[in-house]
Amino acid sequence: TTPIRVGLLGAGTVGSQTARLLVEQKDDLAQRIGRPIELSGVACLDPEEVDFPWIDKALLTSDTASVVDGADIVVELIGGTGVARTFVRQALENGSSVVTANKALLAKYGPELYALAEENDADIYFEAAVGGAIPIVRPLRESLVGDQVKSMLGIVNGTTNYILDEMTTKGLEFDDVLKKAQELGYAEADPTGDVEGYDAANKAAIMATLGFHTNITIDDVSVEGITKITADDIAAATAEGHVVKLLAVVENSQAGVSARVYPALIKQDHPLASVHGSFNAVFLKAEYADDLMFYGRGAGGAPTASAVVGDIVTVARHIAAGTTGPSIPMYNDLPKAPLSAS
Ligand code: HSE
Repeated sequence: TTPIRVGLLGAGTVGSQTARLLVEQKDDLAQRIGRPIELSGVACLDPEEVDFPWIDKALLTSDTASVVDGADIVVELIGGTGVARTFVRQALENGSSVVTANKALLAKYGPELYALAEENDADIYFEAAVGGAIPIVRPLRESLVGDQVKSMLGIVNGTTNYILDEMTTKGLEFDDVLKKAQELGYAEADPTGDVEGYDAANKAAIMATLGFHTNITIDDVSVEGITKITADDIAAATAEGHVVKLLAVVENSQAGVSARVYPALIKQDHPLASVHGSFNAVFLKAEYADDLMFYGRGAGGAPTASAVVGDIVTVARHIAAGTTGPSIPMYNDLPKAPLSAS
């Protein structure tokens, strides 16, 4: 049987780990799919600079379009809304399926890409775009599709959770901790989006779209980040029995749909207070399922790659079976509650 070809776009923190998981688990994954898969190309800006023992140097190229055209599954780990959009569109137009961890792309152009996937009988899977390793996208798309999701409350940015945690436990100032978060591979290439709340806002838009079956983009989310929070603010919160957490809050209520990101004071005995370091958590309320909680590593190379490879296997199974996964209907034209920070 011919192998299913996987083209990787990006060889950074998540891309390099995705390649490692694919190569190291090659035989297991072939068994789980029922067909072999192979890494057919790895596109990156500086092929000369990329050096991982598990990536065959012959696969590295700066010619991204050729990797896209040579793959059955295109794995987009470039990030951002520029060239990533171009190549994801190219893949879907080719009828290839896409796996991406790109929350900014989906929060802005999700509807256009979901429609394009459907038109071309292709899959678009993005478990890693929200909550890193935590299964939350698939539960929203599949497990909970027979229910009415009412609200989600989440810690969905590992960088800011790590920073707030270090400030709380060690009394450090914001700037001292940010560098460490970058070194640990939690922060985005440009960490502004993390600390200003936009990364969490992108995830809130995706969660709201999937949970409420309505089109919510990044422009519908109110955002306040953590850059103004000082060690003194944290000490004052601690003294009153609270912790400061950057929360994404999405709700479908009488007032309409709302999606907000802001630093919130929560009681120290609240379950979200014990989400430490780069861990993320999402609390979900649904009409029939009632309360659900999702918890796990929200950032970092290997945890995020775990979710990416899970999507690759899922899509490869669909290819082997000649089918595609569920589409993403956005039939609900729900009113949007007015934007305000809290
Ligand atoms: N920069 C992100 C975070 C990575 O800190 O959570 C995962 O999306």
